[in-house]
Amino acid sequence: MKIKIGLLGLGTVGGGVHKLLSGRKEAIARQIGSELEIEKILVRDIAKARGLDIPPQLLTTDYREVVNHPEIDIVVELMGGIEPAYQYIRAALQNKKSVVTANKDVIADYGVRLHRLAAEYEADLCYEASVAGGIPVLRGLVQGLASDEIYKIMGIVNGTTNYIMTQMTEAGLDYQTALKQAQVLGFAEPDPTNDVEGLDAARKMAILASLAFSAGIKMETVKVKGISQVTAEDIQAVKEFGYVIKLIGVAKQENGKVEVSVEPTLLRDSHPLATVKNEFNAIYLYGHAVGQTMFYGPGAGEMPTATAVVSDIMEVARNKKLGVGGKGLWQPTAQPVMKTADEIEAKYFLRVVVKDEIGVLNKITEVFSGHQISIENILQKLEKNQNQANIILVTHRLIQSNFEQALLELQKIPGLVDIRSCYKVED
Ligand SMILES: NC(=O)c1ccc[n+]([C@@H]2O[C@H](COP(=O)([O-])OP(=O)(O)OC[C@H]3O[C@@H](n4cnc5c(N)ncnc54)[C@H](OP(=O)(O)O)[C@@H]3O)[C@@H](O)[C@H]2O)c1
Repeated sequence: MKIKIGLLGLGTVGGGVHKLLSGRKEAIARQIGSELEIEKILVRDIAKARGLDIPPQLLTTDYREVVNHPEIDIVVELMGGIEPAYQYIRAALQNKKSVVTANKDVIADYGVRLHRLAAEYEADLCYEASVAGGIPVLRGLVQGLASDEIYKIMGIVNGTTNYIMTQMTEAGLDYQTALKQAQVLGFAEPDPTNDVEGLDAARKMAILASLAFSAGIKMETVKVKGISQVTAEDIQAVKEFGYVIKLIGVAKQENGKVEVSVEPTLLRDSHPLATVKNEFNAIYLYGHAVGQTMFYGPGAGEMPTATAVVSDIMEVARNKKLGVGGKGLWQPTAQPVMKTADEIEAKYFLRVVVKDEIGVLNKITEVFSGHQISIENILQKLEKNQNQANIILVTHRLIQSNFEQALLELQKIPGLVDIRSCYKVED
């Protein structure tokens, strides 16, 4: 029996999927007991040179030739963007075709709805490639760690920002130079907003948290702050305390309440995630039974991402052969209750510039103690020729809303020149 596949998109990832399906045809057929065959491929431009050996009659510009094709069992969406990809996925599911996608935008926004639709039409829906490209972390969470209760996830899930932060830390580059370098090397888009402002990572964290906590986490509930304000001075200042700065996604579940955030975060330079350099990704999971475990690897790229897509296709094909297609579906079991700022606890790093006058430091500590904030570590450095001092400190764990109020009050201290930077610390 041949299992027929329709591709929506034949760009970077689609090309990789084609190469893997043709290059490993026999090995894949041996593993799943069926041959996989691409029947139809949707593209925008049929005449485009693609460097792939594809019979021209396979290509179409009409998506209905894929999603309505009577012989196609699995539709693989690799176009990207929300529309029309979302509508095409819906149409495929409504035609009882299982769907594999690499599209984090669609899954972060519409994952729960699509899972319901898939269940209604008894189809499978898989999206391993949507988070951390070549790292099988979704399958690791849903299958490998199914027996455990995962209560915390920390992830480096965006290669662009990890590349920039690595270059700032190790080569001493400033943010703009590191970004330009990432663009020249193809790690950053010409418009890098989605990556550098943390939106891409936030979508991936919403997907990870939804699966880990079995709850449909909405993108708008994720606290997001990007790396565009991180300065070379900050990188130097955190080194004084033995930290590095990385864009870290954190998802936690405590007492039935959830918090999800993406922000530049200080990690001890000995933390396993601190060793994840350049464009690489890693996801660090905390489970009550497993303890701590880390998934590491390439987060994007033609062939790494294609491995995730083809593994999903193989899972769907196996399900079909076993007659369990559309039956083992994930559904959110709980409405997530998100923590408020009064319930979120964290440690913070703060760098402020003050006038070099007697009593300013006392005033800062007074504001802090008024909000039940205590200081774990503090350093004062004179700025040459300016009669100013840099105060760098790390707090003990505190309540986020207390810290927010303290920051507002600090700004009113007469001797305070500027709050230069403020970052969460994950020890
Ligand atoms: N690239 C990665 O490393 C990576 C990693 C993880 C996940 N992903 C995800 O994988 C998906 C695909 O990414 P990609 O990098 O392969 O994208 P890409 O290189 O831009 O390819 C997109 C493909 O979709 C086709 N397409 C786009 N819009 C279309 C439309 N309206 N109608 C018909 N065809 C359309 C394009 O056709 P033409 O070729 O004719 O232009 C092209 O073949 C995205 O969701 C992305 O987020 C990518």
